[in-house]
Amino acid sequence: MPIEKIIKNVNIPVLGLGTWRLAGKEATEIVKKALQMGYNHIDTAEMYGNEKQISEAIKNFDREKLFLTSKVWYENLNYQSVIHACKESLKNLGTDYLNLYLIHWPNLSIDMKETFQALKELYTEGLIRAVGVSNFTIRHLRQALPLCRSLSLPIVTNQVEFHPFLYQESLLNFCRKNNIYLTAYRPIAKGLVNENKIINQIAKKYQKTPVQITLRWLIQQDIIAIPKASSEKHLKENLDIFDFELDPLDIETIKEVNQNKRMINSEFADFDD
Ligand SMILES: NC(=O)c1ccc[n+]([C@@H]2O[C@H](COP(=O)([O-])OP(=O)(O)OC[C@H]3O[C@@H](n4cnc5c(N)ncnc54)[C@H](OP(=O)(O)O)[C@@H]3O)[C@@H](O)[C@H]2O)c1
Repeated sequence: MPIEKIIKNVNIPVLGLGTWRLAGKEATEIVKKALQMGYNHIDTAEMYGNEKQISEAIKNFDREKLFLTSKVWYENLNYQSVIHACKESLKNLGTDYLNLYLIHWPNLSIDMKETFQALKELYTEGLIRAVGVSNFTIRHLRQALPLCRSLSLPIVTNQVEFHPFLYQESLLNFCRKNNIYLTAYRPIAKGLVNENKIINQIAKKYQKTPVQITLRWLIQQDIIAIPKASSEKHLKENLDIFDFELDPLDIETIKEVNQNKRMINSEFADFDD
């Protein structure tokens, strides 16, 4: 069973299953398999279009033992749309609460205050147990933090692209300073870490795979990781990271692999800090 971090009274399992691009029956089967294996943290979003398939997979699982995250799409950030989107996600997922609800991408054309007011409403009603953001840069966080403070609404996590080739050190430090946990999406760079010489050398030393070394590297830095997998082999491999510990020197060595290489960008991304 993956270990948990208690973040602002929210227990977040440090390893979750990403589900972007899992669709149809495959999504149901993979999530079911993952839960049987010991995963207890599932990451989805209204935009992934797989919440109904995930509901099939989780319906017989003890809800209190599951950490479920969904996200509101960046076009739905006005007050009424946030409330509506969340209720749709709950209906699709067949649950009456989300453990974590994230703003999927910042959208500065919609007043952030309105978005957080809606999130506060959902939080107060008990429909979401924690609030977070995704794809927020330091600039976006600087704007969000005072709003959230005035609403007594903690931002628990910022989910961003983070892996050995994109070590976002200043964002990580800023989050740490503000008690926001970083969640790494694309944490294994889609498997590309398997091709890196340095990570391979370290993997040999621990008799683990480069993917396992990378996931361990993240969680030892108190970063939550949500790798996606669609085979039993990958699911198992990614979960098998709790029986060893990386030496601090190896953690530093992997930081040197950084190329500031962003794999995810889009026409609405706003990364210019
Ligand atoms: N908030 C956002 O804007 C945002 C953006 C992107 C992603 N995310 C979230 O983060 C999750 C993870 O990111 P991601 O799916 O983009 O990338 P990722 O987890 O880094 O990579 C997934 C890819 O790696 C492969 N893989 C998985 N385990 C492996 C292993 N042990 N060895 C070799 N290859 C392996 C998978 O193959 P198979 O499928 O064949 O197993 C898949 O092709 C997403 O699913 C989503 O939930 C969020």
